[in-house]
Amino acid sequence: MSKRVSERLKNKAKRRAEGEMSTVCANGEQPGTSARSNSVILREVTQEIIPNLQTLVDSVFPNIFHENLFDIAYKMGELVRIAYIDGKLAGFITCELKNGVLYVSLIGVRVEYRRQGVGSALIQYAISFGRDMKKDIQLHVEVGNTTAQQFYKQHGFIETERDDTYYDDPPRAAFVYTKKFNE
Ligand SMILES: CC(C)(COP(=O)(O)OP(=O)(O)OC[C@H]1O[C@@H](n2cnc3c(N)ncnc32)[C@H](O)[C@@H]1OP(=O)(O)O)[C@@H](O)C(=O)NCCC(=O)NCCS
Repeated sequence: MSKRVSERLKNKAKRRAEGEMSTVCANGEQPGTSARSNSVILREVTQEIIPNLQTLVDSVFPNIFHENLFDIAYKMGELVRIAYIDGKLAGFITCELKNGVLYVSLIGVRVEYRRQGVGSALIQYAISFGRDMKKDIQLHVEVGNTTAQQFYKQHGFIETERDDTYYDDPPRAAFVYTKKFNE
């Protein structure tokens, strides 16, 4: 998750009543098995889908204040994809082109659809995009988010940096994970 996205947490936290969920990046045990479905479909974001997408993002990242994130998502074209499984909106990925890399700013799958290949379909989309553009793919992942780290490693990412002060409020460390195509 990018710092910019994380910083939105602060605003959102202020808006929330005390006692509500404060998870930054879900990393707990997830239900379900590794059952696979062949019916993951990726689509572009349309304006009509934005309310549903906001509900989805809220469920995965309860504290993110994403007022502008998805209002403009439908204009981001190839840098954003949403995933459906068995016809249900299940996940999303947003990327940016910055500092010469394809940067994954946010990826998430609704908890009830995890371990069914939805996240893989989304990250594979970014991987193909990076490969086609000959750009390395990079992202930050919170040091405590071992689930996401397993997931990225499974897709060939390696840890290339650690930043102990990447996230703040509260301060948390992040790894930079990279998949190289620009060599
Ligand atoms: C990380 C995330 C996107 C993965 O999505 P997903 O749809 O569950 O991933 P997939 O089903 O495609 O999993 C692919 C592989 O990743 C690894 N993996 C995924 N979840 C895992 C878990 N809970 N524990 C261990 N390995 C895991 C496995 O190797 C898995 O393959 P397998 O199921 O055949 O064992 C999802 O867990 C999520 O949304 N997490 C919360 C948000 C988040 O942390 N985003 C990351 C940015 S900070």
